[in-house]
Amino acid sequence: MNANKKLDAEQQEIVAKMRALITEVRKHNNAYYVMDAPTISDNEYDQLRLSLIELEERYPDLTQSDSPTASVGDDPLPSFSQVKHDIPMLSLGNVFNKDDLTEFMRRVNDRLNDKDKNPSYEVELKLDGLAVSLKYHKGYFVRGVTRGDGQTGEDITQNVRTINNIPLVLEQAFDIDVLEVRGEVLMPKAGFERLNREAKQSEGKVFANPRNAAAGSLRQLDPAVAANRPLAFYAYSVNQGLPEHITQQSAALAWLKEIGFTVSAVKLVSNVDQVQSYYESVIEARSSLPFEIDGMVIKVDDLQLQSQLGHLSREPRWATAYKFPAETAITKLNAIEWQVGRTGQITPVGKLEPVQVGGVTVSNVTLHNIGEIQRLDVRVGDTVSVHRAGDVIPKVTRVWHDLRPEDTEPVTLPEHCPVCDSPVVLPEGEALARCTGELFCPAQQQEALIHFVSRKAMDIEGLGGRWLISFFEHGIVKTVADIYHLHEHKADLVNFEKLGEKSVNNMLTAIEQSKNTTLSRFIYAIGIKGVGETNAQNLAQHFGDLAPLMEASIEALEAVPDIGTITAELIYNFFRAEHNVEVIEALQQAGVHWDKVEQVASDNLPLEGQTWVITGTLVESGMSRDDAKAELQALGAKVSGSVSAKTSALLAGEKAGSKLTKAESLGVRVVLEKEFLALIGA
Ligand code: IVH
Repeated sequence: MNANKKLDAEQQEIVAKMRALITEVRKHNNAYYVMDAPTISDNEYDQLRLSLIELEERYPDLTQSDSPTASVGDDPLPSFSQVKHDIPMLSLGNVFNKDDLTEFMRRVNDRLNDKDKNPSYEVELKLDGLAVSLKYHKGYFVRGVTRGDGQTGEDITQNVRTINNIPLVLEQAFDIDVLEVRGEVLMPKAGFERLNREAKQSEGKVFANPRNAAAGSLRQLDPAVAANRPLAFYAYSVNQGLPEHITQQSAALAWLKEIGFTVSAVKLVSNVDQVQSYYESVIEARSSLPFEIDGMVIKVDDLQLQSQLGHLSREPRWATAYKFPAETAITKLNAIEWQVGRTGQITPVGKLEPVQVGGVTVSNVTLHNIGEIQRLDVRVGDTVSVHRAGDVIPKVTRVWHDLRPEDTEPVTLPEHCPVCDSPVVLPEGEALARCTGELFCPAQQQEALIHFVSRKAMDIEGLGGRWLISFFEHGIVKTVADIYHLHEHKADLVNFEKLGEKSVNNMLTAIEQSKNTTLSRFIYAIGIKGVGETNAQNLAQHFGDLAPLMEASIEALEAVPDIGTITAELIYNFFRAEHNVEVIEALQQAGVHWDKVEQVASDNLPLEGQTWVITGTLVESGMSRDDAKAELQALGAKVSGSVSAKTSALLAGEKAGSKLTKAESLGVRVVLEKEFLALIGA
């Protein structure tokens, strides 16, 4: 946008609207990525962002250069210009244990006069990002510079402007000629994960860790790309322009916070034991912090004493970094064990020569899947680097191929399930191998049971959760069919963990009622891989009854809407496994039944090709949104979560909110509950 051009009243209004939306989006980005405490739903957030994008697309000339959307208008920079720091940006010395720290404090004391000895220290988190200096003239942000070599850095002003939690105007600093604030730019963990997830989907660049992602983003020459990266700035010092009455580091940070900066946790301590116990508690909390830290920084709190102590060539004498234990270690892979998950996935677990990583002993690592083993080219006997961050499951990040012993062999997938001995398959296009034991494999039965009784499946209230698992663990229920024989053990159940007659009666009534179900619920309940609620509805609609579905060929299954080859094969194989058929027969023998489905020829479906959105509460019918969705799908409609210009109709119940407004503004047809009920013939 050309800043010099005079804007007319209408344009000014649009810019004001854009600015208001930018502030709002930034605020929520900050709440989500920095504070880890979003205050609006994802949907509402998307609406806000969309409104901004819509405005920017309509008025590209008015697009603001610091917009947090992708459509920023500024051209990429040819390169960054070099800027010399007024005051060098120093690094920090390191200590690794309590003894080193005691020695650091002793050195500080040695240099202080008697009256100043044993000063207060202020302890901060050592944020794992990049040091950046920000300059403000009379309260207005003018320049952002990287640390560079400490003397000269790169001018990244354009990119800094797009960081959501950096204030661009400091109302409380209008009277300060030059204010220099330094701090760390980092990428919070949530944002990093999202960025990598999106990059994987679009085959873009995947970053190894949040620090690299932050560095890569800050050095983006195109500010439009940088604007879309979830970065945050944490201030840790005032290097020019600090009001004179502020005489401690802790007070300087409190002031920074007051004038609009984000600062991280601060603690005041007066001796080494206090630092040590804080250090240990921070290590405990490390994995639950929204960003990565690699230690703590211990600073003499009194600013006057800081300048008295001065600095060495590269580091201050008044501060040091107390580093955390390394999160990566090297060890040997002794074996690979294949484990069967609750849904039948077969995952390889690496058994390691035990090693200390991130302060704990690690002897197992996840190797994810056979594809990952091949990608890493790892074999039993290899030397490997292991990374463990907080509570995260340790993983192999590198294989030292040069150190590979001679007699190793490539790893292959086991042919049979280690738990039930059923054949193992690796469906085409999938990463995880599966045990074909399904309803029969003990490792999978527990999950199958929980799924079977769940609300959208057989909906057996009062049996879900704890009791079902308990029955399973005590061998009372093994397969889903056993649920319908529970009444035969009524006397035992009443005494089971003091369950009592009333609860047992309720449970048995619910089980009895669930026998009368629908075909689609039943198909969903038996837990065929790849068959969710919608596929189950489509299969029920298409085949009308269970027998033709069980007999269907792969080609016949592929003819069902939304069923591709992979799912068709999964369904076909499910019904070819004898143990699955036995369980299904047992269920029917126990009395589970449904009405035959009235089939509607698919090209006659009245809402075929339409996309509907549901909002508000359906008061008149008391119908849940899930039920309404099922009704619409049965008529051929697709049901989506958000309104766009492509939406065919919005079903609006009572208290419809932003979706209704959006539909109206886009001219999307709005259907009220009465009309909907007539449509479904209710
Ligand atoms: S104070 C002269 N405080 O650590 C004092 N640095 O290893 C220098 N860092 O370049 C910085 N969190 O990028 C300070 N709370 C914190 C910090 C911090 C992270 C980084 C900073 C610095 C590096 C030195």
